Amino acid sequence: MKIVTRGQELRALSRRARQSGMTVGFVPTMGSLHEGHLSLIRRARSEHHRVAVSVFVNPLQFGPTEDFTRYPRDEVRDVRLCRDVGTDWFLLPRSRALYPSGFTTTVDPGPLGEIWEGAERPGHFRVVTTVGLKLLQLGEPDTLYLGQKDLQQARIVQRMVHDLDLPVKVTVCPTVRERDGLALSSRNVYLGPAERSRAVGMIRAMRDGRAMVREGVLDASKILARVQQVLRREASPDRVDYLSLVDATTLLPLTKLDPSGGVLIGAIRIGRTRLIDNLYVKPRARRRKGT
Ligand code: PAJ
Repeated sequence: MKIVTRGQELRALSRRARQSGMTVGFVPTMGSLHEGHLSLIRRARSEHHRVAVSVFVNPLQFGPTEDFTRYPRDEVRDVRLCRDVGTDWFLLPRSRALYPSGFTTTVDPGPLGEIWEGAERPGHFRVVTTVGLKLLQLGEPDTLYLGQKDLQQARIVQRMVHDLDLPVKVTVCPTVRERDGLALSSRNVYLGPAERSRAVGMIRAMRDGRAMVREGVLDASKILARVQQVLRREASPDRVDYLSLVDATTLLPLTKLDPSGGVLIGAIRIGRTRLIDNLYVKPRARRRKGT
């Protein structure tokens, strides 16, 4: 595995590989890698000749009251894990190199960047699209791998790739969870033992909602009332930033599910830790008489 600190060097490696007929998969991360990240890298490994992983804790991505300074970092471990899963190029860009002095240009993700996470974290997705575009320009991959865990981020990047005609395929990979259902997240390390047991309440509540949908309940307000109730009981969140049932593509709220289903999305705070998750829900297909 080659460790690269200059984006231009990654571009040269990627171009050379592609000129000799190879394909390149790319997994951008903020480090502190866990099985969720590794699942993306393994998927890229299985689909491409060369795999690039970037680790960059993007300072601009954190609001003034957010956890940039205490965000977990462990470069040595990240390097080892990436090597173990077969990464070819490990990009560790320096902030100064990605954001040269006088940097002012950004990519505005539009309305999709202003709802849910965007409403809670103003400007967040503009930074994600901007750094995402820069990384794509440097890595020039065939495929970009993102996690469903951050569904809104994935939708925004897909939108950007489509709107700006970027020559890359976006693959969204399923959320990797702990045995009890808690979605893996670098921020889970902040949770104390009691908070950890409460944290799992969010996915429990969403799974309850999914069960209702499978039983044929299609009315969003009924489903959400039940999810809220289980969430309050199981997680006693210190705050619910949002909880909604949305269309899987537009992420706009649904009032009634149709057969294509939707996604339950939520963000809560447990103590000082902010957790987000989402779960697809789809009514069971009705058997037609005689089939
Ligand atoms: P980060 O939070 O490190 O996540 C990197 C990638 O891993 C994202 O695509 C995220 O959705 C995915 N991921 C995180 N937890 C996951 C899980 N439990 N299962 C599956 N995939 C998971 O997201 C970012 O970094 C940044 O915003 C970034 C895209 C790197 C831009 O700075």
